[in-house]
Amino acid sequence: MEIISTVAALREAVAKAKAESLTVGLVPTMGALHAGHLSLIERARKECGFVVVSVFVNPTQFNNPDDLRTYPRTVEADCAKLEEAGVDVAFVPSVDEIYPEPDTRVFDLGPVAEVMEGAMRPGHFNGVAQIVSKLFDYVQPDKAYFGEKDFQQIAVIRRMVEIEGFNVEIVPCPIKREADGLAMSSRNVRLTPEQRELAPVIHQVLTDNADMAKDGLDLQSLRDMVVEELNSYDGMEVEYYEIVDPITLQPLENWADAKNGAVGCITVWLGDVRLIDNIKYPD
Ligand code: PAF
Repeated sequence: MEIISTVAALREAVAKAKAESLTVGLVPTMGALHAGHLSLIERARKECGFVVVSVFVNPTQFNNPDDLRTYPRTVEADCAKLEEAGVDVAFVPSVDEIYPEPDTRVFDLGPVAEVMEGAMRPGHFNGVAQIVSKLFDYVQPDKAYFGEKDFQQIAVIRRMVEIEGFNVEIVPCPIKREADGLAMSSRNVRLTPEQRELAPVIHQVLTDNADMAKDGLDLQSLRDMVVEELNSYDGMEVEYYEIVDPITLQPLENWADAKNGAVGCITVWLGDVRLIDNIKYPD
């Protein structure tokens, strides 16, 4: 595995792979790698002859300076995991390498970026579009892999791809969970032992709610049940829970509108740790 920190060297490595007609796969990450990331890499390995993984904590997508400051950074351990996973290139740039000058681009991401995370974290998705578009420009990947835990992010990236005209297949990959159901996230390491013990209740409540949908309950009641139940736990606070159309990401009013299916998207605070998760409702 090559560890590359400059854009020029990255472009060169990719050009060589393309000259050998290898399919190029990109897995963008912010590091602090866990089994969720490794599952994306495994999929990329199976489908592509040349796999690039970027490890970069992108400052422009953090709307909260404390979150950026405390985001876990474990570059050495990450590179060891990437080597072990059979990655071809680990791209580990500095902030100055990516942003030699401020990125002032504003993407017209439309309604998919206006709700939920977009409403709660102003500028977040524009920052995601900035970094992912830069990575796509450097690597020109045939396929790019993203975890479905960040369900809305995938829709936003699809929109950015449409705007910029990148010729890339976006590959969504299923959420990886701990044995107790907690969605894997780099932020989980920031939970106290007590918070970690409580956190799996998020997935339990969502799974029960999706089961209850089979009994014909209306969307508003289902939504309220999730919020009330999770808020009843000490130290847990739901920021939002929305049951949305999986393509437009717009909140659904009733089941008749759920023509593309329905996904429940949640953000929960445990102390100062913000966790997100989602669940697909049965058709
Ligand atoms: O999902 C993430 O880890 C980040 O938002 C991404 C896609 C790597 C961009 O920084």
